[in-house]
Amino acid sequence: MKVLGFAGSARRDSLNKRLVRLGAHAIRSAGAEATFIDLEDFPMPLYHGDLEAAQGVPAQARELAELIRAHDALLIASPENNASVSSLLKNTIDWLSRVRDLDPLAGKVAALMAASPGGFGGVRGLYHLRAILNTLGVEVIAPQFLLPHAHQAFDAEGNFVDLKQAEQLAKFVSRMLSVAGKLA
Ligand SMILES: Cc1cc2nc3c(=O)[nH]c(=O)nc-3n(C[C@H](O)[C@H](O)[C@H](O)COP(=O)(O)O)c2cc1C
Repeated sequence: MKVLGFAGSARRDSLNKRLVRLGAHAIRSAGAEATFIDLEDFPMPLYHGDLEAAQGVPAQARELAELIRAHDALLIASPENNASVSSLLKNTIDWLSRVRDLDPLAGKVAALMAASPGGFGGVRGLYHLRAILNTLGVEVIAPQFLLPHAHQAFDAEGNFVDLKQAEQLAKFVSRMLSVAGKLA
């Protein structure tokens, strides 16, 4: 089982990147493969129909689509921006949905996470992300991992301060691997 993990933030000190890195670590501990990528390395212009008509899909969107196709499941940590997904994540998904010949998201299993400095852990953004991914044929598992007060959740090495969160994360990825394994 191969899982591709990324965050919907390109920020250098992104809390969501820290969270998805821990998720990737938990996946490897469970005996599966995990690849962490940074969307900073897949820059894409803001989706514009005229741009697509003139130049087609950006090379980075195709590259990311091929990477997704080479994995069985996705682990996505999304920031919550104004009660929805980040612009970066939405734009990335919109371009991916235009890589028609590869149809990269259809049939993938995904597990969703969110880290927020706020008290609700980014839950509102994940409602939208789930709906967007479902529309594109992604099987999003029911459990989701929320990390409220995320600015206080990590130690200097990027591990959870609270060991209970590490246990919950291990259970969460185990569920994703189990569902992805059954669907494979
Ligand atoms: C434009 C904007 C809107 C935001 N809206 C929300 C929000 O609705 N809910 C929330 O919990 N945090 C919100 N935040 C705070 C982000 O969750 C916070 O900046 C978070 O650290 C961003 O994720 P990152 O650390 O992975 O970059 C917002 C931040 C920005 C810049």
